[in-house]
Amino acid sequence: MRIGVHGATGRMGRLVLREVLSSDDLVLHAATTRRSSTLAGADAGELCGVGRREVPILEELEALRGADVVIDFSHPLHFPEVAAAVDSALVTGTTGLDAHGEQALREASARMPVLWATNFSTGVAILNHLVSRAASLVPEWDAEVVESHHRRKVDAPSGTARTLVDAIEHGRGEGATHVHGREGLVGERPVGDIGVHALRLGDVVGEHTVSFGGSGEVLHLGHSAIERRVFAVGAVRAARWLAGRAPGSYRFAQVVGLE
Ligand SMILES: NC(=O)c1ccc[n+]([C@@H]2O[C@H](COP(=O)([O-])OP(=O)(O)OC[C@H]3O[C@@H](n4cnc5c(N)ncnc54)[C@H](OP(=O)(O)O)[C@@H]3O)[C@@H](O)[C@H]2O)c1
Repeated sequence: MRIGVHGATGRMGRLVLREVLSSDDLVLHAATTRRSSTLAGADAGELCGVGRREVPILEELEALRGADVVIDFSHPLHFPEVAAAVDSALVTGTTGLDAHGEQALREASARMPVLWATNFSTGVAILNHLVSRAASLVPEWDAEVVESHHRRKVDAPSGTARTLVDAIEHGRGEGATHVHGREGLVGERPVGDIGVHALRLGDVVGEHTVSFGGSGEVLHLGHSAIERRVFAVGAVRAARWLAGRAPGSYRFAQVVGLE
């Protein structure tokens, strides 16, 4: 299977390159990054630490055409251009998409299979499932989502935290007001609100906790990503699963067998 990797120079992109170049059944079709990248022309194998492979990092997104699946971890503002450039199948983990990015996702999934996930870890897929179930059992309990990430993360709250908020709302069967942090004389907590809190600390890979507060008890459901590599492994697993499917929008929960 031929894999294209976009955002190849980034933290995630390099880990995806390493997974692809270390797999016997995968071929690195192309590795691309943004225009004017200082790493354009570098060798993909050397960049991800597996030794020279004679696949240069390119700035031209057209190079992604012809791959069986493209894996993208890049930048939300750049995403519409990436989605438009792919012609086969797209696995993307880019978070912080705005309305243009979401529109690009919809357009792309009308002409090819697309799997966008805010988190490619199996544990978080299970966490989403458990959170939704808990929220359905105690819809009246207060719910708060807390996430921690490394200091270089550019969007907040994390895409995973947003997905967990969706899971709470799905479980309750209704939408809620989202309260992003609190300050000052905010008054009593309104029933039904969902609190969301983003911590930025050193090199934390990713931690998420959903707490449900009832009368006399609090339930915490949480997940810690120990190594960033887990997301690359999940994205490659998703790529294998997605290749050759009909156009449409797919979910990582389907890949791990939760749906
Ligand atoms: N779904 C998941 O499981 C998961 C897990 C981790 C991260 N993520 C998400 O994946 C994305 C990438 O994360 P990362 O940690 O790898 O980030 P990163 O290290 O900053 O890498 C981002 C990549 O996109 C390029 N880029 C940066 N700014 C750009 C811009 N304005 N226009 C076009 N390209 C740009 C970078 O090129 P240069 O190297 O030239 O700057 C690099 O190739 C983020 O949205 C992050 O939240 C998702």
